[in-house]
Amino acid sequence: MSGTLRVPGDKSISHRSLILSALANGESTIEGILDSADVRSTAGVLRALGANVPEISQSMRVTGGGLRGLKPSREPLDCGNSGTTTRLMAGVVAAHPFSARFVGDQSLSRRPMKRIAEPLTYMGAKFEFEHGDGLPMTVRGVDLRSVDWDTGGSSAQVKSAILLAGLASAVEVRVTETARSRDHTERMLRAMGVDIENDGNQVCLRPTRQIRPIAIQVPADPSSAAFFVALATLARDGDLTLMDVCLNPTRNGFVEALKRMGASIEEVRQSTSAGEEIGTLRVSPAELKGIRVTASEVPAIIDELPLLACVAAGAGVELEIRGAAELRVKESDRISTVVQNLVAVGARAEELPDGLRVFAGQRELRGIVDPRLDHRIAMAFGILSAATGNQITVKDADCVAVSYPAFWDDLRRVAA
Ligand code: S3P
Repeated sequence: MSGTLRVPGDKSISHRSLILSALANGESTIEGILDSADVRSTAGVLRALGANVPEISQSMRVTGGGLRGLKPSREPLDCGNSGTTTRLMAGVVAAHPFSARFVGDQSLSRRPMKRIAEPLTYMGAKFEFEHGDGLPMTVRGVDLRSVDWDTGGSSAQVKSAILLAGLASAVEVRVTETARSRDHTERMLRAMGVDIENDGNQVCLRPTRQIRPIAIQVPADPSSAAFFVALATLARDGDLTLMDVCLNPTRNGFVEALKRMGASIEEVRQSTSAGEEIGTLRVSPAELKGIRVTASEVPAIIDELPLLACVAAGAGVELEIRGAAELRVKESDRISTVVQNLVAVGARAEELPDGLRVFAGQRELRGIVDPRLDHRIAMAFGILSAATGNQITVKDADCVAVSYPAFWDDLRRVAA
């Protein structure tokens, strides 16, 4: 295992680059956007609402129509598998004078939307659900009022829904969280001239009439890079360099956790774009030891927790994750999906209500993995399948298209 890899653009930043460019006054340029199913969902929803968003390409121009320039859609807004599309666009629609019906695939339709419906309803919007608090969901927008909202949790999607609603309605909003969630929305808005201030776990956005267009270079996705950081750590020899990775501290929990386990990861900061720091990760193999991950660490590693469990199983070391009940409402119930599949390939692991345990014990892992169409689970087990001695087959391997369509090609290339 050796070489250099530039994984595709960051998914969170890609969604935001499209949405905020569409709301700006004038032409933005986006270089290196992630071309994946989720980002296509955001582009499709924006187009359905009349935004001038061209085909996704590595060098795009988006001419925005202003903060409240979207138009009603004749079709339902199809968000596919994407929670970020649904929740962020619900915030935007809530501030427009029309209603829109949001639909999605089976997995997305099961995911909770009350968390955005509550604050946006408080601000004046109306929400209608056809069953429970999942999709299909109809959002009726109005002139929203200002809000000071404590989410009682840590979710960038909830925080961003409120910020975007406040932005498009030109009212002040303040959001408080238990721990700071990823702050890409804030960084990009600041780069577009918005008066927005983070203070610990609180963010305050002041009203503005318009946002200026931006030139964005989307950095490589640290959540996609994480798979290869894991692979290089578990490898017998060689080393791997990951280029242009987003080094935002609200996303670095995986690298921090692996370092605590004994991994050898060198970080070099190189540039900044749209408020995001970008740099290189150089990873070499290491002997790992067990760790515990607790609630305060979870927000910065939320999407990489299944992978961390696979790394512990691959290295034969103990891992305990607590305070991560949120994993149960991701693209799949990631606690049960990862534990059941670890057990299916011969590792020892158990579910906890708010996390999981992997038990120590080196063994070769063999068997068939059913990722339940969850892209990150498929890729986490893909890494285990490439580690020496293991014989793992991942079913429905194409589901990686949600965030990383070329994952299997890149894996074959570096794990020769
Ligand atoms: C995301 C926020 C996180 C993360 C998701 C992407 C975003 O979700 O798990 O993959 O782009 O804002 P939550 O906001 O539900 O924590």
